[in-house]
Amino acid sequence: MHILITGGAGFIGSHVVRHLLNTYPSYTITNLDKLTYAGNLANLKDVDGSPNYRFVKGDITDAAFLAKLFAENRFDGVIHLAAESHVDRSIASPVEFVLANVLGTVNLLNAARVSWDGDFEGKRFYHVSTDEVYGTLGREGMFTETTPYDPHSPYSASKASSDHFVRAFSDTYGLPVVISNCSNNYGSCQFPEKLIPLFINNIRHGKPLPVYGKGENVRDWLWVVDHARAIDVIYHQGKSGETYNIGGHNEWTNIDLIKLLCGIMDRKLVREPGTSASLITYVTDRAGHDLRYAIDASKLQRDLGWVPSLTFEEGLEQTVDWYLSNQEWLDEVTSGAYQRYYEEMYAGR
Ligand code: NAD
Ligand code: DAU
Repeated sequence: MHILITGGAGFIGSHVVRHLLNTYPSYTITNLDKLTYAGNLANLKDVDGSPNYRFVKGDITDAAFLAKLFAENRFDGVIHLAAESHVDRSIASPVEFVLANVLGTVNLLNAARVSWDGDFEGKRFYHVSTDEVYGTLGREGMFTETTPYDPHSPYSASKASSDHFVRAFSDTYGLPVVISNCSNNYGSCQFPEKLIPLFINNIRHGKPLPVYGKGENVRDWLWVVDHARAIDVIYHQGKSGETYNIGGHNEWTNIDLIKLLCGIMDRKLVREPGTSASLITYVTDRAGHDLRYAIDASKLQRDLGWVPSLTFEEGLEQTVDWYLSNQEWLDEVTSGAYQRYYEEMYAGR
């Protein structure tokens, strides 16, 4: 079995690469990644010497490069994670999201279709998507696999568009596809522009914690290793043409999560209780900020037997421990270009 994983140097992708290498030693895994600011080979340093692992630097927006890669390899499957993934960046630079997320996905679908040339026996194209395609919920209800798409940010619109192309390639060419839509992930190796690692890093440096709006938005948090386990199960046992929602049944308002995180950080850094929370600063809300996400993952549990393995309190504690014992990782990824991004993104908020 030879699987092409795209975006394997990013946050979730690196956990998927590691999980598959450790679980299936007989598989060959090729990791294709452009190494944008979010891609980091240090995320995989524990597995990069594995004989059945190969890294290829490349860009999924480059169709000629993909055609050559597929011609030179006989991939049995693709697990597609490469994307621009940060909502705030999509508000600042929407076109980049269309290129990477829409054009990149279509190029990849087309490369797989041409290379497999109608012989789809044993093949699979797995597209990793997000719950944000469903839009926002009010105080009640949950997203199911049949919730109509209603994206609000350039990021979620680009992911929704890519999902539609994946289904179009299934309906038009018979490509054996499967899609999953997951809620917010947390864990090690997440770029510190996203809420949890950003706030851990800011608390470490005594910097303000910029809470958007009133902090009342709700997200449904899942440990990244549990997402990788779900991707494994869906890749191997999911039905072609189906969609599976993945989520932790773990809703938190941002402000409650931030207070929990602040308490853990005070304890770990041996600071007076309340020290980290004193950094909380309410700032201008994100434009088009979705109020609430909540995933109904009962189909995945019922059909494929997947359930999350950790409680949020355990996972968050482990996550904080990882960032505190990997401060060089944080310092490295937050130097240079990131400092400029941070100043521009939060200026005047
Ligand atoms: P990430 O930003 O950490 O990683 C994305 C990776 O894709 C990086 O390694 C980057 O270098 C690579 N990449 C970007 N553009 C590329 C291109 N043109 N060609 C090749 N590689 C490219 O993202 P993540 O949080 O790990 O998300 C991975 C996937 O999971 C995305 O598709 C995202 O939409 C989806 N997802 C993320 C979450 C979440 O909470 N983070 C939740 C649900 C779904
Ligand atoms: O729901 C899945 C999605 O989760 C993924 O598809 C995206 O790739 C991933 O980035 C994530 O999107 P969010 O926008 O929910 O994640 P983020 O960490 O950026 O924000 C989480 C919440 O915290 C959101 O309500 C905005 C808020 N927030 C975020 C930042 C960065 C703040 O209040 N302050 C901040 O500085």
